[in-house]
Amino acid sequence: MNNSDVADRTQSWTASDLLATLRYWRVCGIDRLTGEQFGFAPVVEPKATVPIPIPTPPPPSLERLISEPVPLVARESWIAGLAQEISSCQQCRLSQTRNQTVMGVGALDAPVVWIGDAPQEEEERTGEPFAGEARAIFQGMVRAVGLDRNAVYLTNIIKCRPPGDRTPKPDEILHCQPFLFRQLELIRPKAIFVMGKVAIDCLLGPVKQVGQARGKVHFWRGVAVVASYHPVYCLRTPSSKRMVWEDLLLMQKTLEQDLQGCASI
Ligand code: URA
Repeated sequence: MNNSDVADRTQSWTASDLLATLRYWRVCGIDRLTGEQFGFAPVVEPKATVPIPIPTPPPPSLERLISEPVPLVARESWIAGLAQEISSCQQCRLSQTRNQTVMGVGALDAPVVWIGDAPQEEEERTGEPFAGEARAIFQGMVRAVGLDRNAVYLTNIIKCRPPGDRTPKPDEILHCQPFLFRQLELIRPKAIFVMGKVAIDCLLGPVKQVGQARGKVHFWRGVAVVASYHPVYCLRTPSSKRMVWEDLLLMQKTLEQDLQGCASI
């Protein structure tokens, strides 16, 4: 039997063709056939497909989307570079009157960053935010939430002293804001305690008054933010201290829960 005697695999068969062919093959002495010989494709059982597990990405946290936390050693050199940029900044009129810039002070891996508005005369002289009585109030706040004062970072939204210690102007804030944001991205604290309307407006967007932002946890690029009164306001208005205490308790709770959320801005 040669190849031409084997059924054409592409051929379609009628029942009588089939019968005739079988009779013919029997005459030829073929009494046993395999399916393949006869033109049928062998039956291949489909293999059970085992689904390949595709890892589900973790829920999008802005901490991951924007930047991975920077290792501490890198933070030190990055912050030194940032300090250099800040001290040579000429973007607004405050650079014409300043004696030195006041960037911030504290641990670069601090769990909480505290933000005020702008350095005043004493801060410009010492080069550190919150000097004198305001510093004492601030330290009291830090102790109240059980933090070591060496484990916090303190800064202002404005890095140059406004002449006469006036309130910073909107364009000055706008020029300085990127410096603050870079500090925050670098430190990536667990929480931010923002003090006073000027700083709240800069970080969270404009509010009519501090009370509007108090009493809830906001988020700045995924970092929890608690808003409160400015320490200088506490000096002038002792009744505000009770409210600041409540805000501090909210921040303490926030730290305990290690809240992370979505950006509110
Ligand atoms: N001193 C600062 O450094 N910041 C303020 O907001 C007020 C006084």
